[in-house]
Amino acid sequence: MRALFLFLLAFTMTTTNANTLWGKKGHRVTGHVAEHYLSKKAKKQIDKLLAGHSLAFVSTYADEIKSDRSYSKYGPWHYVNYPLDVHYHDAEKSDLGDVYTAIEKCKRVLLDNNATEADKVFHLKFLVHLVGDMHQPMHAGRAADKGGNDIQVRWFNEGSNLHKVWDTNLIESYGMSFHELGDELIRTTSKAQKKAIESGAVLDWMEESHSLAAEIYGSVNSGEKLKYSYSYQYNPVMFDRLKKGGIRLAKILNDLFK
Ligand code: ADE
Ligand code: ZN
Ligand code: ZN
Repeated sequence: MRALFLFLLAFTMTTTNANTLWGKKGHRVTGHVAEHYLSKKAKKQIDKLLAGHSLAFVSTYADEIKSDRSYSKYGPWHYVNYPLDVHYHDAEKSDLGDVYTAIEKCKRVLLDNNATEADKVFHLKFLVHLVGDMHQPMHAGRAADKGGNDIQVRWFNEGSNLHKVWDTNLIESYGMSFHELGDELIRTTSKAQKKAIESGAVLDWMEESHSLAAEIYGSVNSGEKLKYSYSYQYNPVMFDRLKKGGIRLAKILNDLFK
């Protein structure tokens, strides 16, 4: 009996860890790509605030604090929900804030000469995370199904949902480390492509995710079993969102830390 209990405990801990680790890879890729494109001036100021830690390392902090209830007001900062056929400008806004208002808040704190060092560090870590979240299309989906969280699907033989497919399943199934995938995205980006990706503003980038969410909702039926053909079709989109997230995070940071 005791052996069975210990086995079940070990099994539960392994699967829980695996799940939480999965969610982190996309953020680390984005952080790793951004790090490559930082200006010297930005790198120096960021190194000081983060005590030498990399952007990839701090990119998951905003998810880690979710388990502490004293940070619950930051939950709505990770996403935005509005109807698929509406632009953000015309949509009803949440009083609790959303990923767009949160990114603007982080930028304000980082530019505020009166903000404390601790406040700047907190909002810098959040900014690194939220620019990643904003590029995950299902973080800009419908309210009714919580950005796809309530749309159950199977990922090969495992239970999942449409949100999780885009947070973790597609990225994990590709089987590269965050370092390898990040380096791959960097080496396949031309100067002209980088310039095109940097154009526009945070709001445009969020609306890009929102348009993609509409397409992704149409890509599955509830209960469907997704497998290789889904990865084959959508990996290029997933790579593109990670690359854009990284390049634009660097752009935002280079503009803040001049
Ligand atoms: N994560 C938790 N709730 C969410 C929502 N409503 N939309 C997107 N991501 C979420
Ligand atoms: Zn998040
Ligand atoms: Zn998510």
